[in-house]
Amino acid sequence: MSAKPYVLALDQGTTSSRALLFDAQGRLCRVAQRAFAQHFPQPGWVEHEAEDIWATQLATAREAMEGIDPAEVAAIGLTNQRETVVLWERASGRALTRAVVWQDRRTAAHCQALRDAGHEPELRARTGLTLDPYFSATKVAAWLRERPDWRARAEAGELAVGTVDSWLLWRLTEGRVHATDSTNASRTLLMNLHTGAWDEELLRLFDVPAALLPRIEPSCADFGHTTLLGGRIALRGVAGDQQAALFGQGCNRPGQAKNTYGTGCFLLMHTGSQALASQHGLLSTRAAQVDAQAQYALEGSVFMGGAIVQWLRDGLGLVRHSDEIEPLARSVPDSGGVVLVPAFTGLGAPHWRPEARGALLGLTRGSTRAHIARAALEAIALQCADLLDAMLRDAAPAGLALQDLRVDGGACANGLLMQVQADLLGVPVLRPAMRERTALGAAALAAHGAGLWRGEVPWGGAESDERFRPQASASDLAPLRTAWAQALQRVM
Ligand code: G3P
Repeated sequence: MSAKPYVLALDQGTTSSRALLFDAQGRLCRVAQRAFAQHFPQPGWVEHEAEDIWATQLATAREAMEGIDPAEVAAIGLTNQRETVVLWERASGRALTRAVVWQDRRTAAHCQALRDAGHEPELRARTGLTLDPYFSATKVAAWLRERPDWRARAEAGELAVGTVDSWLLWRLTEGRVHATDSTNASRTLLMNLHTGAWDEELLRLFDVPAALLPRIEPSCADFGHTTLLGGRIALRGVAGDQQAALFGQGCNRPGQAKNTYGTGCFLLMHTGSQALASQHGLLSTRAAQVDAQAQYALEGSVFMGGAIVQWLRDGLGLVRHSDEIEPLARSVPDSGGVVLVPAFTGLGAPHWRPEARGALLGLTRGSTRAHIARAALEAIALQCADLLDAMLRDAAPAGLALQDLRVDGGACANGLLMQVQADLLGVPVLRPAMRERTALGAAALAAHGAGLWRGEVPWGGAESDERFRPQASASDLAPLRTAWAQALQRVM
């Protein structure tokens, strides 16, 4: 047993902050979680109070650490909702405004103007991303355009900007560290994907002063230490939540892929030290890097994943509890021709249509809530199948194919969804018993950074993975895929 038997993972997500304590064998010992308020000041806008993010994260970390001697914690790993940006004053550490969340669509017109001006191909080549309000750069640009006083202060070096990891690092280190890691920086539209540095051309294009930005580090690095949890604990791992999950699923070789069914769905395939330029509407992004060698992944994200189930519950009142959806959907053999296109906040990859809106099609007098529930689960799986099709087309020229898909995230508890997913993908879906893969990834990065799990990383007992094998043939599924493709066309 090591003298430092624990690793603490902080997982700052879109709707809650969590802290998870792992022991030296990678076993999960404790989980603390706190939700915080979502703000929707205008249609399409999504904001968080930066103080809520911090206060809930600190509170959960303290809760997870209750009774634990900080000297027994080898390191902290931090993982976070990506793209969301915070703007704060360096002197006071006070945020100047609410954080603008990744889901926020307010900069759609700016993105369109840049697209019209012909910037998209160059941006894609430099960043691996597409021009969409999802990413951080236009959010920062909007602040500085609207507030000339903030721009002046930004240029004078008085202000700091950062994704949520940077904000938390700043607060955890009490203003000593303004840093981010390359996975988070690769989501901003400001980092050059290939060099791993802020790109001067892009800073000029978005008119963002370099003085605002954090330094970029590999995911395993010395991010300083905190003394706010009762003693000094090193910060040794940082990664955006999807890259942390990829790492935490043990996907660190080219061709290995995972899908996280959270608020949205995030499908990532590791592509090794090669950045593959997507020809099919996906993103090329940094994967977690533990040494000097940059690592890459292809990513496809859909904005509405598990959030569809929440909408059925809270928006439609179709069920009282989320876990009622699966039995309801199972009570019918199929969706009876009902198709739900969940473009509630536009369509993400591979379509990228911020203006698209949702639709419920194919209703008849015979349609019931069970058909709608089934159509909703199918919609989650169909969106992911479209992503994977695009991914395999991008990966094939590099000789990468998919053996299986590892899954995590809240909605992967839904067995019907996993079976439909395996049917649509035609490869087994592997559901681990230990589903906290994002946190495990952050913990593994920190443990690696602290020299604790350098060799064999304990991946949470892969032998107990549950396997969903494809059971339907392509011809069985053809009507569903055709109806889906036709419905998509209706909303685009
Ligand atoms: O890109 C956004 C993603 O990082 C948010 O993840 O888990 O907070 O929904 P989550």
